[in-house]
Amino acid sequence: PLVTLAEVLKEADAKGYAVGAFNCNNMEIVQAIINAAEAEGAPVIIQASQGAIKYAGLEYITALVRTAAAGTSVPVVLHLDHGTDFNQVLRCLRAGFTSVMIDGSKYPLEENIALTRRVVEIAHAMGASVEGELGRIGGTEDHISVSEREATMTDPEEARRFAAETGVDALAIAIGTAHGRYKGTPKLDFDRLAAIDRLVPTPIVLHGSSGVPDADIRRAVELGVRKINIDTDIRIAFVEATRQALAANPDEIDPRKVLGPAREAAIGIIRHKMQVFGCAGRL
Ligand code: G3H
Ligand code: 13P
Ligand code: ZN
Ligand code: NA
Repeated sequence: PLVTLAEVLKEADAKGYAVGAFNCNNMEIVQAIINAAEAEGAPVIIQASQGAIKYAGLEYITALVRTAAAGTSVPVVLHLDHGTDFNQVLRCLRAGFTSVMIDGSKYPLEENIALTRRVVEIAHAMGASVEGELGRIGGTEDHISVSEREATMTDPEEARRFAAETGVDALAIAIGTAHGRYKGTPKLDFDRLAAIDRLVPTPIVLHGSSGVPDADIRRAVELGVRKINIDTDIRIAFVEATRQALAANPDEIDPRKVLGPAREAAIGIIRHKMQVFGCAGRL
């Protein structure tokens, strides 16, 4: 069934694990996420970015995830990833999303708090959850120095204030991860994460988690991360498998013969992530 983010994170917090939040763009990826969650006995968050909604259409994304959630005993959250537009957030809530992210991280603290609080008031009134973001989670293409990078990271005291004043159900923080494929190995600021977790009772979200070594992910979960976002690693598995299927049979013209293996590859990587996050076998 469809459930809220607050519900699955409450359980995760009580038991000390993280729930995987996987980005979807099409039917095959939605099916892969649900198939993996059923195979692993894990609660799951299926998220769509504004780009995914633009690509597939809000009605299609909603219908796909609703259909998947209706046909399974696994708790499924339908979540908007990196909502930056207030009206887009409202459209998702009206369409039946059980959770939305309002990403006001590009604004000064006061404005981020004001925007996020406005979304929390509306979403909570509609029975949905909200994720906010404090600190800047960059892309891997950024050529920035260590001190510049530090400046983009989440300040623990600001995080305490942001969580208290907005009432968000989950808080995304910047501790050194980045979206997309890493060039080297990411260096996470675990001391900062521990300091944030000490001050903030709200469940913590780690973005940019593709490409982060499993050991670092496990440590982040031990230090309080309760939602982990994965997009890039699914893209890599999906498109690599597509390439292989085409290379193995260049004359193939049946999309099912190309996208079927891609869906299988996505299931494999998602199942592995669920085991690392600790959400596998929790149902
Ligand atoms: O945060 C970024 C996610 O990987 C979504 O990416 O905006 O290309 O859909 P996207
Ligand atoms: P990755 O690009 O590392 O998969 O991060 C995804 C993400 O944070 C979506 O919000
Ligand atoms: Zn993100
Ligand atoms: Na990443």
